[in-house]
Amino acid sequence: MLLADHERMDRMLAELFEAAQAYEVHPPPSSRRFTMDGPDPVAEEAQSVLRQKWVMLEESLMNHMAAEEALLFPVLRQVDMAEALALQGEHQAIRHTFMEIGAGIGLARSPLTHHFAQLLSKHAQRESALLYAWASAQAPQNITDALRMRLKRTFVDL
Ligand SMILES: [Fe+2]
Ligand SMILES: [Fe+2]
Repeated sequence: MLLADHERMDRMLAELFEAAQAYEVHPPPSSRRFTMDGPDPVAEEAQSVLRQKWVMLEESLMNHMAAEEALLFPVLRQVDMAEALALQGEHQAIRHTFMEIGAGIGLARSPLTHHFAQLLSKHAQRESALLYAWASAQAPQNITDALRMRLKRTFVDL
């Protein structure tokens, strides 16, 4: 289910990127953003879609990482402290980069966006190879159940 959540967030990131491109294509050099008739509805719509997708990814990502930190990392620390610290550090870098990008203008062109996508993809690969492989074989049922409950907050179909 953690893997499914990664895949879902990959799709959300791709959609966010598309929305950012759409916004940056339509829109407004700022001088042309307002006409005599008021705000440009196409640009406004594109911006609202972009904001929505941003917020959805943010909620899912923060919830996913918080769930791992609350439920899996404490157990991982018992068996592999170095790996637990490394994953925790990657979470910090992911949060930091996401906040730095900000929900906004230039998202599709920002080099930070590419950096963020790479951070996320490397982190996901690392977790799949070690943490998730270990958790699916070793994690007690109560932890698995608690994880599912947490992920369901943003992944209702899980
Ligand atoms: Fe993680
Ligand atoms: Fe993860």
